[in-house]
Amino acid sequence: SEVFVLNGPNLGRLGSREPDVYGAADFEALTALCRDTARRLGLHAEVRQTDDEAELLSWLHEAADGRIPVVLNPAAFTHYSYAVRDAIAQRTAPLIEVHLSNPAAREEFRHNSVVAGVATGTIAGFGFLSYVLALQAIAELLAESGN
Ligand code: DQA
Repeated sequence: SEVFVLNGPNLGRLGSREPDVYGAADFEALTALCRDTARRLGLHAEVRQTDDEAELLSWLHEAADGRIPVVLNPAAFTHYSYAVRDAIAQRTAPLIEVHLSNPAAREEFRHNSVVAGVATGTIAGFGFLSYVLALQAIAELLAESGN
């Protein structure tokens, strides 16, 4: 079955963006890893990235309407977007919040996530592995629920 892997602002710039924090691999490599991992788990990953809050909201609505599980890195929206939170709250399928870095170990403003309270769970601090672990969690949850 299908899973959305949705990425918020600035994540398309992986590889050149603060490589000391986010690593040297680019978004294309992350996309390939997610697709391969999903395939290995018997899933199909639809990987998307946007810098536009409205576009991310429309993808979350699409996931809610289609009952499609989501791996979401909301990037900076994590810390202030009540609109992203409200969109996530509409879904019924699992949604895992992921972060490459560990926001709890960084600046104060990153310590709060306004989306964590409506996510199924959160995986942070493992770089690209955060996405692999989240896809594994989705696969387990789908298997448990018989999907
Ligand atoms: C991030 C952490 C956020 O605080 C930051 O704004 C990002 C990336 C991460 O994956 O570590 O853009 O979500």
